[in-house]
Amino acid sequence: MIKEMADDEAIQATNDDASECKRYAVQLGYWSDPFINFFVKQPTRKAPEINRGYYARVKGIENFIEKFLKLSGGKGQIINLGAGFDTLYWKLRDTGKTPANFIELDFPSITAKKCYHIKKHKQLIDTLNTEDGEIRFSTTDLHAANYHLVGIDLRHISELSNKLTQAEVNFNLPTLFLAECVLVYVDSSATSTLLKWLSSKFPNSIFVSYEQVNMKDKFGQVMLSNLRSRGCLLAGVEDCESLETQQRRFTINGWEGSNAWTMVEVYDSLPETDRNRIERVEMLDERELLIQLLQHYCIAVAWNGQILKNLSIAQG
Ligand SMILES: C[S@@+](CC[C@H](N)C(=O)[O-])C[C@H]1O[C@@H](n2cnc3c(N)ncnc32)[C@H](O)[C@@H]1O
Repeated sequence: MIKEMADDEAIQATNDDASECKRYAVQLGYWSDPFINFFVKQPTRKAPEINRGYYARVKGIENFIEKFLKLSGGKGQIINLGAGFDTLYWKLRDTGKTPANFIELDFPSITAKKCYHIKKHKQLIDTLNTEDGEIRFSTTDLHAANYHLVGIDLRHISELSNKLTQAEVNFNLPTLFLAECVLVYVDSSATSTLLKWLSSKFPNSIFVSYEQVNMKDKFGQVMLSNLRSRGCLLAGVEDCESLETQQRRFTINGWEGSNAWTMVEVYDSLPETDRNRIERVEMLDERELLIQLLQHYCIAVAWNGQILKNLSIAQG
């Protein structure tokens, strides 16, 4: 029990890491995010390869979000699993592209901190204020008109239905699930239960997952031992062996189909003008290191229902 709590604390600390990396890259001008600084203090310097990797991650995911919003015409919902301090909701509101509902889930200790930051910063809380609804807070949960932040351990599936109902979920709407570096921390059997449940409840949905891949090779093994030395068990790492295992994780758990790309492919599919711009932000001493990093992360997508299948076939 004590060991499990220590693991969970190390897992929750990965949110600080991800948020700091994002803030640092934003500060250098890789992409724009006027909201990340409300959640993260001044970060320490990160290597240029890391910053470019984060750029590819953020843009690769945004690509699917944009296609989904276009296809669902503002009538879809987004459910961010293990959302951490992600700012996607505020970025979408800023550009007038909000979905019908936006739900963020994470451990209660993380959502409590996120609630605190939201309450503290006028720019964040004011965005949630609408004429047609009040904002309800508890220590760990926040419910506004079309934004819900909910504390839950994703391994406890019995609570999920109840928590999603509190978040005014609509099982019949087109739904995009997002999991950015999350499932790798959840053991395979709990992930199977979660994916089966989601696929049975949401007939018209797409799952977008960003995480490690090619973990069995030498570079992958070094990445794993670095993460493990920080106390992260990586209970779901067996599904990060290859693009095939990433896809199979979905298809054996009830999803109609899936696809996956390494981040090398995602990076190369980004518009050339954007790549040229960010490649001038910082000099890269060793391009080889960037390629190796990008080869060890991927975006995997899975779908249920014909409409969202089309969105999932091609990257870029
Ligand atoms: C690497 S962070 C990524 C955060 C965010 N998705 C991003 O990309 O900025 C992983 C997140 O997954 C959350 N997480 C991992 N396992 C979880 C679980 N069993 N239940 C709820 N959240 C979990 C962690 O608390 C953490 O916030």
